[in-house]
Amino acid sequence: MSTQIYHPAAILTAPDPMTLECHEREYIVVEEGIIEGIYRELPASFRHLPVEELEDCLLIPAFSDLHIHASQFTERGTGMDLLLFDWLNEYTFPQEASFQDVGYARKVYPQVIYELLKHGTMHAAFFTTIHYDACDLFWQMLQESGMYALSGKVNMDRNSPDYLCESTADSLRDTERFLQEHPSSEHLRAVLIPRFAPTCSEGLLKGLGELSRKYKAGLHTHLVESWAESAWTKELFPDYQTDGDIYDRLGLLGNGPAVFAHVIFPEERDLEVLKKYDACSVHCPDATVNVTAGIMPLKKLQDQGLKIALGTDIGGGHSPALYTQAARSVQESKIKEFYEGEGDRISFREAFYHATHEGGAVFGVTGQLKKGYRFNALALNGLEDGAVRHTPQELLERFCYLGDDRRIVGRWLDGKKIDPEEIRERISRL
Ligand code: GUN
Ligand code: FE
Repeated sequence: MSTQIYHPAAILTAPDPMTLECHEREYIVVEEGIIEGIYRELPASFRHLPVEELEDCLLIPAFSDLHIHASQFTERGTGMDLLLFDWLNEYTFPQEASFQDVGYARKVYPQVIYELLKHGTMHAAFFTTIHYDACDLFWQMLQESGMYALSGKVNMDRNSPDYLCESTADSLRDTERFLQEHPSSEHLRAVLIPRFAPTCSEGLLKGLGELSRKYKAGLHTHLVESWAESAWTKELFPDYQTDGDIYDRLGLLGNGPAVFAHVIFPEERDLEVLKKYDACSVHCPDATVNVTAGIMPLKKLQDQGLKIALGTDIGGGHSPALYTQAARSVQESKIKEFYEGEGDRISFREAFYHATHEGGAVFGVTGQLKKGYRFNALALNGLEDGAVRHTPQELLERFCYLGDDRRIVGRWLDGKKIDPEEIRERISRL
């Protein structure tokens, strides 16, 4: 049995939205990559084992990014003064077309995985592109990296430029092939990724609904992201009430995890669907102000018992650091409350819970530092000023507001210490 024991300054984890649990100077015991327990005094059965002292470090769960376009990584931080549709047409669609060439994917995708691991994200729900070979290569890289991920092939069969559009039949054929050739494992799960309702025909979505049932595939898509998107969807799908109604009635839900990015303008019917399928709504604070213009009614969704995770939404968002999105979600909740009245503001505790616990739950027993959970964890240090002593909770908040990857001094995935640069080297050779 492989056992490791760590003794950090503090272990911080979020068991519920209102609690930031803090274990100061306690021991965490990890057996075969799984947390065995957290102890104030080490039990006698472990006392003969070596202890790794991390006396100036905070130990926290690794982050989960529930909405990121691996295929938009090279675009991040450009075109940020445009709104969604112009940004898609002018920047994103032409760039995504480059993934037709698998050599381009081989250059870009190792960097995506490297940057995420460097910033402490070990679990992610990815968007890719419509191109089978590039999606397959990305899957292999994810597998080799050890990350936990939802990935797959994107579908687009209308309202897309000719150079980035599939026929309905090709889209369904390649998706079925992807599901057949990429069975789920403990780390990876292939899901359906219809880009968003306006770029998918009813026939395509109906076909995807059949594949969802046949292969027990989950769904990852954009939901009621902007006024313009919601209005256009209603025009294109006059027999349906809202985005949520479309995915429900066409059978894409209930067969695996459901992850919906943005959920900025949900109607009653969307809320009903989110509840019915215990779906995860993903708040992407940077993207929401960069390209989509609207802020998720996060507190109201949370108060209804809905699951909320955070996403970077690169390239709509610009930073690969999920922890910055925790800070940004607190900031945006205050702006929303300022303009719209009481009831939107969230605490840092809630934001950290979304960034770790709720996002991690999509991948099984990840996202918390707790007995029975995978030891997917980060050690942070160097956040003190020196003159003043801060509490561990304050240091964690400070990391999310003004930290960067240099403050992450240890990364463990399934209990093993990882080096993002070594992983990048290895997956670049695939
Ligand atoms: N809606 C459809 N495609 C996209 C995309 O690539 N990014 C975002 N943020 N929204 C979308
Ligand atoms: Fe997106």
